[in-house]
Amino acid sequence: MSKDSVRIKVSASVANVSCGFDCLGYSLEEPADILTITKREKPGIEITISGTGADSISTLAGRNTAGKGILSLLTAVDQQLGFTVHIEKGIFPGSGLGSSAASAVGGVVGVNLLLGSPLKPSELLIHCMAGEAAASGDFHADNVAPALLGSIILIRSYDPLDIVSLPIPENLFSTVVLPELSINTKKARALVPRHVPIKTAVEQAGNLAGFTSAMYTGDFELLGRSMIDLLAEPYRQELIPGYHSVHQASLDNGAIGCGISGSGPALFAFSDSLETAMKIGLAMEKAFKHEGFVSEVYSSKIRVEPPEILD
Ligand code: HSE
Repeated sequence: MSKDSVRIKVSASVANVSCGFDCLGYSLEEPADILTITKREKPGIEITISGTGADSISTLAGRNTAGKGILSLLTAVDQQLGFTVHIEKGIFPGSGLGSSAASAVGGVVGVNLLLGSPLKPSELLIHCMAGEAAASGDFHADNVAPALLGSIILIRSYDPLDIVSLPIPENLFSTVVLPELSINTKKARALVPRHVPIKTAVEQAGNLAGFTSAMYTGDFELLGRSMIDLLAEPYRQELIPGYHSVHQASLDNGAIGCGISGSGPALFAFSDSLETAMKIGLAMEKAFKHEGFVSEVYSSKIRVEPPEILD
């Protein structure tokens, strides 16, 4: 019997992962959004939002990432059903942790389930991207792909869409530190130059290849050398007070590499044990404190599972 209602938990994600601007992202265990989606008689999508940063998000279906993703899916499967969607935000909007992506994924996955799963998870990606575009103004998949599929995802190509789930070395851990700040993704994207010199393109390609190779071999020294971004991070770091000291604090405490998570202000770091990941988190938190910002710390392995269906 098909369900009338579903509750689904979708995790935050780290996009770019230093050397993969718009083409690398990984899933976190926490924080997460929870969406409750219910079929209704009337067509149309009615959205309500609670939780962190709820006031800053539109409840209009065409301007909300969950709503826009659902509309895209309904058009593709030629359905005119109506739904109520309640979004409980656990991921602060403008955090750099894929807040808009998590809601888009929750909406699309939830409605697909309520329709009896006409599309496979990989076929849902394009609709999640359409949803995410409501917030960022651009089609990019480096948050929605890991939030939808779990793991660390490389987007090899956007046209045609071609994604690769990379292997994760057994002892790779993530730390994410989120200061009490918010950055508008559209504005942060406007800071990224449209054109780069060939020398920069070559260096970025080398780093991304080094990163990918290190995920297959577990060579953490190569991973650290490769975790450098030349496309976005140099132009965005000024948006994050204390960027340099927080970055340095992570490396001084054993981080393999560190960078801005998505468009920030959160920063992420990789390390080789949970103990080191937690130590790095405390040091980064202290460095942000020194700049006058309280922050949240999340230390875990990369999440490999897809969104959790709660009931
Ligand atoms: N790759 C995107 C960016 C992620 O850096 O603009 C932001 O959501």
